[in-house]
Amino acid sequence: MRVSRADIMRLAFSRLMTAVSGLFVLGLFIVMPASAEQGVLSLRYPPDRTVIEYDILDVSIGVDKGAVDLIKVNVNGRERASAVPDRDHECFSLPLDPGMNEITVSAFRNRKPLDRIIFSAFRRSEIESAYHKAPDGFMKKYFHMGDTAECSACHILESRESDEMPISPASFTARNFSKEAVISSTSTCYSCHKEITSRQYVHGPAAVWSCLSCHEKGSEPRYSVKKPDREICFKCHVEQRDDWSSKKVVHGPVNLGKCTICHSPHSANNPFNLFKPTWNLCTTCHAEKGSGQHVLGDSFSTGGHPTHGRPDPLRKGKELSCASCHEPHASNFLHLWAFDVQNLFELCKKCHYDK
Ligand code: HEC
Ligand code: HEC
Ligand code: HEC
Ligand code: HEC
Ligand code: HEC
Ligand code: HEC
Ligand code: HEC
Ligand code: HEC
Repeated sequence: MRVSRADIMRLAFSRLMTAVSGLFVLGLFIVMPASAEQGVLSLRYPPDRTVIEYDILDVSIGVDKGAVDLIKVNVNGRERASAVPDRDHECFSLPLDPGMNEITVSAFRNRKPLDRIIFSAFRRSEIESAYHKAPDGFMKKYFHMGDTAECSACHILESRESDEMPISPASFTARNFSKEAVISSTSTCYSCHKEITSRQYVHGPAAVWSCLSCHEKGSEPRYSVKKPDREICFKCHVEQRDDWSSKKVVHGPVNLGKCTICHSPHSANNPFNLFKPTWNLCTTCHAEKGSGQHVLGDSFSTGGHPTHGRPDPLRKGKELSCASCHEPHASNFLHLWAFDVQNLFELCKKCHYDK
């Protein structure tokens, strides 16, 4: 067969074209990951503009794990979590500030930023008047009412009998539960909510992960609790119920049954699972009593009486606080005075003249 110069040219041309298109395809492969930079992260939970009542937000992110070697999560500009992804789904529990939280999830490869997701969550707070109401466009969405199929590939989402082990205060020793005492192995809630008992002072039933002793699985929304709080608290704290209901003066928020405005039902960094140290807690609502003018300054125009920063003379090992002179729940006397005293003079005598 004769091969003409034209044939050779044609053959050479087609080879060239194959090579070029090969390069082109190769080029595409080289270019592809670069152009897909924007897509290595995807937000599975939560939806943007969610309202959260507590100080923990759970975040679940889809990751192109081969493309990313580091993920960092910032809340309001502070780094709160990081992970080296080893599967295509990474989960985080993030501490939230009261009010607005801007969350940034960033993906890196060889320290170079690849992708970023930004969303916001509003932490509502009943006790901080500035954060009572979520801004327009923010909504509370109930996770356990939604579609959780994406999560059940790795987590158990149906509660079991072990989540509702019966608990009574009588079965507990009087001491507080520390996080070392937390028993979690049997709870189906633990894999996602473990941070909820991670504070220093853990409430008895939460410490043993008896979550369903307060949260009802059959309720609507799912796992919601009865309101007001005292409906659940007094199921176990019968002694307190009987004591306080027999008193003449009941403190405003206690009268409304809002126990969890002051106490965490799960865990907190303060004794009695209080959300704040006692003095700070009281002055959140009674700001003027923290001015230094209280007790003496209110009635005499002298300098005030100390209300904190000194040892409490009657309660060994505790600091003087509002609870040194006032009952936080109920009392038989004016102004919720402690010690069952009848008048001002008797109150002063408790600490100043008795010894
Ligand atoms: C591919 C498997 C997988 C999927 C799918 C998955 N998770 Fe996870 N998740 C895990 C593993 C494994 C852990 C434990 C991680 C650890 O302790 O380091 C975890 C932990 C968590 C945590 C606790 C994180 C922490 O730091 O305390 C939360 C919250 C969570 N997942 C929520 C979710 C939600 C919500 C979904 C569905 C949108 C989901 N997960 C889907 C595997 C998965
Ligand atoms: C797959 C992980 C996962 C498991 C398992 C899980 N939860 Fe949740 N839960 C979440 C996420 C995510 C939220 C949304 C709020 C947040 O960001 O923490 C949530 C929210 C809640 C809420 C607030 C109401 C709502 O629906 O948003 C309650 C109450 C609750 N969980 C109780 C439980 C109890 C009780 C169990 C065990 C029987 C449990 N959860 C098991 C992930 C989980
Ligand atoms: C002593 C009762 C009690 C126990 C035990 C308890 N909780 Fe709660 N939990 C509450 C109350 C009360 C609230 C506040 C609900 C509200 O105000 O809407 C709450 C709120 C929550 C929320 C947040 C809801 C939100 O709106 O963001 C989650 C999540 C939750 N509980 C999970 C758990 C898990 C997991 C356990 C098991 C370790 C548990 N709880 C044990 C009483 C309890
Ligand atoms: C299922 C039973 C149960 C329920 C419901 C319950 N508690 Fe308790 N609570 C206990 C037990 C048991 C203890 C003792 C162990 C401990 O100190 O945490 C306790 C202790 C406490 C303490 C004292 C902690 C200390 O340092 O002495 C406070 C405060 C408290 N509970 C508040 C509440 C509030 C507020 C509610 C309602 C939201 C509530 N409890 C609902 C069982 C319960
Ligand atoms: C205004 C804030 C506030 C409210 C509301 C409140 N508490 Fe307390 N509670 C406190 C403080 C402060 C202490 C610690 C007192 C101390 O230092 O002696 C305490 C202590 C306790 C204790 C342990 C000591 C005791 O007196 O038995 C229990 C149990 C308790 N509270 C349950 C409840 C329950 C149940 C409710 C709702 C009916 C409630 N609290 C509402 C502030 C509050
Ligand atoms: C969530 C807001 C809130 C918190 C927190 C709070 N209080 Fe109150 N307090 C009230 C309200 C509401 C009243 C009733 C209205 C009034 O008398 O001003 C009240 C009334 C009082 C009274 C006056 C009772 C009377 O009959 O004169 C005293 C005393 C008092 N609180 C002490 C405390 C102490 C001590 C603490 C901290 C353990 C505290 N409060 C925490 C809201 C709060
Ligand atoms: C050394 C004891 C003592 C301490 C500590 C103390 N109080 Fe008082 N409180 C009193 C006395 C006495 C009165 C009655 C004052 C009067 O009649 O002028 C009173 C009255 C009150 C009242 C009701 C009357 C009013 O003026 O509105 C409130 C509310 C109150 N105190 C809150 C607080 C708070 C909050 C703290 C902590 C920052 C605190 N108290 C610390 C002794 C004390
Ligand atoms: C719960 C205990 C307690 C009660 C009740 C109490 N005090 Fe005091 N008081 C203290 C402590 C603690 C100090 C600080 C003592 C010190 O630092 O040496 C103090 C200091 C004082 C001072 C000195 C003030 C200063 O700046 O040094 C006066 C005056 C005083 N108290 C008067 C009263 C009067 C009047 C009453 C009754 C209305 C009263 N106290 C009730 C604990 C108490």
